[in-house]
Amino acid sequence: MGSLAPMQLLVLCLISVTTCAAAHGLRRGLDQQGMRGRILADATAAPPGGAVVPLHWSGARYVANFTIGTPPQAVSGIVDLSGELVWTQCAACRSSGCFKQELPVFDPSASNTYRAEQCGSPLCKSIPTRNCSGDGECGYEAPSMFGDTFGIASTDAIAIGNAEGRLAFGCVVASDGSIDGAMDGPSGFVGLGRTPWSLVGQSNVTAFSYCLAPHGPGKKSALFLGASAKLAGAGKSNPPTPLLGQHASNTSDDGSDPYYTVQLEGIKAGDVAVAAASSGGGAITVLQLETFRPLSYLPDAAYQALEKVVTAALGSPSMANPPEPFDLCFQNAAVSGVPDLVFTFQGGATLTAPPSKYLLGDGNGNGTVCLSILSSTRLDSADDGVSILGSLLQENVHFLFDLEKETLSFEPADCSSLT
Ligand SMILES: *[C@@H]1O[C@H](CO)[C@@H](O)[C@H](O)[C@H]1NC(C)=O
Ligand SMILES: *[C@@H]1O[C@H](CO)[C@@H](O)[C@H](O)[C@H]1NC(C)=O
Ligand SMILES: *[C@@H]1O[C@H](CO)[C@@H](O)[C@H](O)[C@H]1NC(C)=O
Ligand SMILES: *[C@@H]1O[C@H](CO)[C@@H](O)[C@H](O)[C@H]1NC(C)=O
Ligand SMILES: *[C@@H]1O[C@H](CO)[C@@H](O)[C@H](O)[C@H]1NC(C)=O
Repeated sequence: MGSLAPMQLLVLCLISVTTCAAAHGLRRGLDQQGMRGRILADATAAPPGGAVVPLHWSGARYVANFTIGTPPQAVSGIVDLSGELVWTQCAACRSSGCFKQELPVFDPSASNTYRAEQCGSPLCKSIPTRNCSGDGECGYEAPSMFGDTFGIASTDAIAIGNAEGRLAFGCVVASDGSIDGAMDGPSGFVGLGRTPWSLVGQSNVTAFSYCLAPHGPGKKSALFLGASAKLAGAGKSNPPTPLLGQHASNTSDDGSDPYYTVQLEGIKAGDVAVAAASSGGGAITVLQLETFRPLSYLPDAAYQALEKVVTAALGSPSMANPPEPFDLCFQNAAVSGVPDLVFTFQGGATLTAPPSKYLLGDGNGNGTVCLSILSSTRLDSADDGVSILGSLLQENVHFLFDLEKETLSFEPADCSSLT
């Protein structure tokens, strides 16, 4: 198996992610109460051949560069599979304090296609957290992983990858202080949630896919919307697994649910079943895919069993005080004897994670490796039944979401060669 090159993970970013996970339940995830409603009639985001949106790794997240306005102004957003809207910080934040971002702040007054939604508009009325006490512009409030954001529901010309169209987005004018620093460069978020105002919802596509190259700078990842969302092996390597009904997790006031979840039926580490369905079969856990969090989470019993297998395989005692955010780390560990992890999904599809994906260098470059999977007890208690597949375990796997058949398919891929 060779030696495990220490991965250059920004431990600080991981700490902020876990802090966020503890402070905000999944169900209060990004923009949980954000914008919802019907698809814009003039949304034409995906061209007939489908859209390709390049993504890159920046500050422990996958980010898309895109433009808003006429003439176009550059913006950038953290790609959040569960996010309900597209948003960017706007110039009016200057009076309330903008969070730091790499690019100049989007200035609506410099775009001659920008439109602030008015309080009476159908779009505005579809937003449960609208705030129309102001001057006729449709204000809204949305919690994000990093703290609350306050914005104006807006539309403008948006160009992302090779797609363009008039799309709704949140023009964020104020945010909690906690967001500053946590954003670490990007000017906003690109939500892909199963909801009307996400990029996926507004593009009106019946399928999308993404492929995340191994984390680190300079490698190309991609999001495909519409006809371009295809697996090279046409899904032959794995049967599709059903996406769970949006009602299954009963998360929001109006019944919409941005999360993409599937059923996990077993997890094996080598020959050891760290989690298995009872003899009658069935799910061991609902697994939620996320692109925002790097780390993964498993039900506590499965996590404890995994800890035992990894500890036994490494044959050395674990660190008494593992660095945040990890629970299990080893010094000078030889990972050659550590088995692959195999996740089995409803319908039989399997996802294999070699130790190089789930054991990480702690970022100090001194031979310490840490388990990048945590117990779901680290999440809010309300989320005990849910596991999370974070971005590290998704690297170099191409995931295809068929929104008509309501299935998830995936296959191993060299993501950086797909674009
Ligand atoms: C969205 O897609 C469906 C089916 O693909 C189509 O019938 C409908 O007209 C589309 N709506 C818009 C607004 O493009
Ligand atoms: C994305 O935009 C940033 C500016 O915010 C720039 O530094 C970076 O090179 C761009 N990345 C890609 C891959 O285009
Ligand atoms: C609505 O916005 C106004 C400012 O426009 C603010 O003073 C007020 O606190 C907001 N209300 C809510 C419920 O957020
Ligand atoms: C979802 O909520 C509705 C009404 O609040 C309730 O009747 C239903 O049993 C819930 N479903 C699940 C799966 O929890
Ligand atoms: C590696 O660095 C971490 C953090 O500085 C420290 O806690 C740990 O003891 C170091 N490990 C070794 C083997 O030096």
